[in-house]
Amino acid sequence: MRAGRLWIQLRDAMNVDKAYKPLFTALFDQIKRLNPGYAPLRAYGSIIISSPTAQAFYHSDVSETVFLHVRGDKRFRVYPPHAPWVSEESLEAILHKDQTEDIPFDPAWDADAAVFDLEPGDFLSWPLHAPHRVENTGGLSVSITCEVVTRESMMKNAVLHANGVLRRFGITPKSADAQGVGAYAKFALSKSWRLAVRLFGAKRPNPKSETTFDVDLAAETGFRDRATV
Ligand SMILES: [Fe+2]
Repeated sequence: MRAGRLWIQLRDAMNVDKAYKPLFTALFDQIKRLNPGYAPLRAYGSIIISSPTAQAFYHSDVSETVFLHVRGDKRFRVYPPHAPWVSEESLEAILHKDQTEDIPFDPAWDADAAVFDLEPGDFLSWPLHAPHRVENTGGLSVSITCEVVTRESMMKNAVLHANGVLRRFGITPKSADAQGVGAYAKFALSKSWRLAVRLFGAKRPNPKSETTFDVDLAAETGFRDRATV
């Protein structure tokens, strides 16, 4: 782990494991107490353990994130949450599971990024959909990342998801506004589409969900690519 290039995400460890769940509940109780009006609908917490040279490439997450850093040093770059840094079409494709969270990146955009050097004990959050990339800058890294669904993120994602449905029918959406009557109509369209896909859609795997490597601690990187046929 220390010598290789591994990045391990223990999904839902914080909200499922009985040792961590009380900490996770207490954390969100405290955030809610300190921020009256903050009312997350759901929250999931992962533990991320990564090698000193690992990095997370440029991507955009569909949920709100609260990132708590525990061990090692990390450099976070956060970019503006709209085009050209992330297009609505990319977000729609992620929500429709046509692609992963990885989106096109131009190194020139680093000039537009907010840079945060995290040390153990720091935490970071950013606007919904703001693309980011992360490099480990010192030692083995341990963090907790909380994916949070709020009413606002649910509405915004429903509108973008519905816009993706409209685009499938050749209609170019005029707005991604998550307020007003139009947004509620799109919320309904998004729900109906999800139901229709569940009932009648062809089963398909998530993008890039195939296993392309095996963990091999004897290898220099800590893993070995599977042979491609
Ligand atoms: Fe992320």
